[in-house]
Amino acid sequence: MKGLSVDPTVIKSLQDIMYEEAGVALKDDIEELLISRLGNRIEQLKLKSFHDYLAYFNQNYSGERDYLVDALTTHETYFFRESDQLDFLIKLVKSNRIRDAKIWSAACSYGQEAFSIALLISEYAPMGNWEIHGTDVSYDAVSKASSAKFSSKEKTKIPRELFELSCFDQPDGTFSFHSSVLERTSFQVFNLLNSYKSNFFDFVFLRNVLIYFKPEEQYKIMNNCLKSLKKEGILFLGHSEKMAAREFNLKSLNGGIYQKLSH
Ligand SMILES: C[S@@+](CC[C@H](N)C(=O)[O-])C[C@H]1O[C@@H](n2cnc3c(N)ncnc32)[C@H](O)[C@@H]1O
Repeated sequence: MKGLSVDPTVIKSLQDIMYEEAGVALKDDIEELLISRLGNRIEQLKLKSFHDYLAYFNQNYSGERDYLVDALTTHETYFFRESDQLDFLIKLVKSNRIRDAKIWSAACSYGQEAFSIALLISEYAPMGNWEIHGTDVSYDAVSKASSAKFSSKEKTKIPRELFELSCFDQPDGTFSFHSSVLERTSFQVFNLLNSYKSNFFDFVFLRNVLIYFKPEEQYKIMNNCLKSLKKEGILFLGHSEKMAAREFNLKSLNGGIYQKLSH
């Protein structure tokens, strides 16, 4: 939409809303991002300005809240992202550590991370009792992940032998997964600023999400996730999110991979 501008009071209000709703700290220089992500919405609602949009948001909070959180969170993800960490996972599967594991893809976005893990374990531990649970604050992301339907363009990131083993093409140009994968994957909306199942998971993937938070929230999210991780369980962080392992009583194993030492 042409001619839209965002003044600092609007930026401050949207920062406050996103912080309250998802804990996400939006930067100050985000005028372009706001215009690119909300401009069409403002046009679609036949509004004239960001001020009108804020008024609309306040009057239609329950209907608009998910749209706004979704539009202003970054969902970038792809199959086999940071694949060196997944190589580490293969070693664990081969050593039989994953046969009956409970795995959490925290901040799973559209599900590519959870399905990449499932495809790998399916190849190396097909008979195991493992399961993968993905969560994200975005309803839209969780609903797309649950549909388990991906564009054929994304196939190129998946190793061919894994695709042949556990995926299949659909007539509409998308692909999906065999029931052996679908039966072991589930998705749910969840905000990482809250605590989750205690002492429950053997592996937690918390990748490429801490970067969107201020240090206090990063600390809170780390603590919440570590409470959900069993003792000696393993935490995977994104490569740009390495933590002071000692602060959290973690043993550093490999690039961004840590083991929990105590409860
Ligand atoms: C960049 S994606 C990362 C996806 C995946 N982990 C990966 O590495 O490819 C970040 C995801 O974090 C989610 N997110 C942001 N704030 C969150 C919160 N407070 N609780 C749960 N998920 C959140 C976003 O909705 C987004 O889908």
